[in-house]
Amino acid sequence: MMYSKINFNKKTILITGGAGFIGSNLAFYFQENFPTSNIVIFDCFRSEGLFSNGNLKSFGHYKNLIDFKGDVICGNIKNISDLSLLNDYNFDFIFHRAAISDTRVYDQKIVMETNINSFYSLLKVAKKDNAVMVYSSSAATYGNIPSPQTEGHEKPENPYGFSKLMMDQIASKYSKENSEMIIVGLRYFNVYGPREYFKATTSSMVIQLGHQILNNKAPKLFKNSDKILRDFIYIEDVIQANIKACAPKKNGVFNIGTGSPRSFQDIADILQKELGTNFETQYFPNPFVGYQMHTQADISSSNKYLDFQPMVTLEEGIKKYIPEIKRLHGTENI
Ligand SMILES: NC(=O)c1ccc[n+]([C@@H]2O[C@H](COP(=O)([O-])OP(=O)(O)OC[C@H]3O[C@@H](n4cnc5c(N)ncnc54)[C@H](O)[C@@H]3O)[C@@H](O)[C@H]2O)c1
Repeated sequence: MMYSKINFNKKTILITGGAGFIGSNLAFYFQENFPTSNIVIFDCFRSEGLFSNGNLKSFGHYKNLIDFKGDVICGNIKNISDLSLLNDYNFDFIFHRAAISDTRVYDQKIVMETNINSFYSLLKVAKKDNAVMVYSSSAATYGNIPSPQTEGHEKPENPYGFSKLMMDQIASKYSKENSEMIIVGLRYFNVYGPREYFKATTSSMVIQLGHQILNNKAPKLFKNSDKILRDFIYIEDVIQANIKACAPKKNGVFNIGTGSPRSFQDIADILQKELGTNFETQYFPNPFVGYQMHTQADISSSNKYLDFQPMVTLEEGIKKYIPEIKRLHGTENI
């Protein structure tokens, strides 16, 4: 699907975090639609290290890149000497995805160092190369504020959300100081779709519940899950947003969601319908204090300035995703 008139053929495109979920999907989008684009992935990949919450320190996985034909550089965005490996290129577009993407990492130092400090370095690369910069912000910048969440009204409730808000502020300042540059932040809501499997327990509930059901187990949800709503967005619409962000009507940070929140119960019910099962959902108490009960992206700005128009409903997204959920079922995510 072509989302804009930009011809990315022969363009040099950097994707940091390109071994992760969103980055690898973007890499394949370019490879398939613009076969002569020169795609460079920079990612530290998965190491054995764990955070104190028991989750892996990074989720980049080579299996997300099977059949990828471009350049792969293994490096850490925190490390200036690793970033110097990018000096040989002259980038036209930079999609900055690399980050600690786990919202439950509470080691503030490492989250800020990784997500904030490196952003300055990558903005410098963009400036030097006169490249378009599209970076990843997050709905976590909003914390628990009531829906709909609108740009300009943020209240992060975890180090991750704070780090993304600081990136937005850096981008805004950098834009003002460098008015010739294109710098766009995309505030994703809850993204789901192929190539998220290696995010393990931080992957979407779509794949986690899908595998529970394929294990012949009833879907397990928090009590009142029919009243816990999120703005779930399918990966294809996220790719659309990234492509359109390359030619914005103005710089800024923009919400990327559907604008139509759905419940976790809806996910379980749609999965059961698609998988032909009829288990009775099991409920258990929600252990989290301050849990977000409702998110809904106000997408009026992304529609106005990026021409972003979500196209995939939750029913359609899950239906498209089912073959991949089935393929991955029972495979190891190590
Ligand atoms: N998936 C979502 O629902 C969602 C929602 C909001 C924002 N985001 C943001 O979008 C971006 C991509 O998210 P994702 O879901 O693809 O996550 P992901 O964890 O799959 O991808 C992030 C990638 O960055 C790499 N990385 C981490 N630390 C690094 C470092 N120090 N140096 C180099 N590489 C490093 C990881 O190996 C991984 O491949 C992230 O910035 C994330 O914060 C994602």
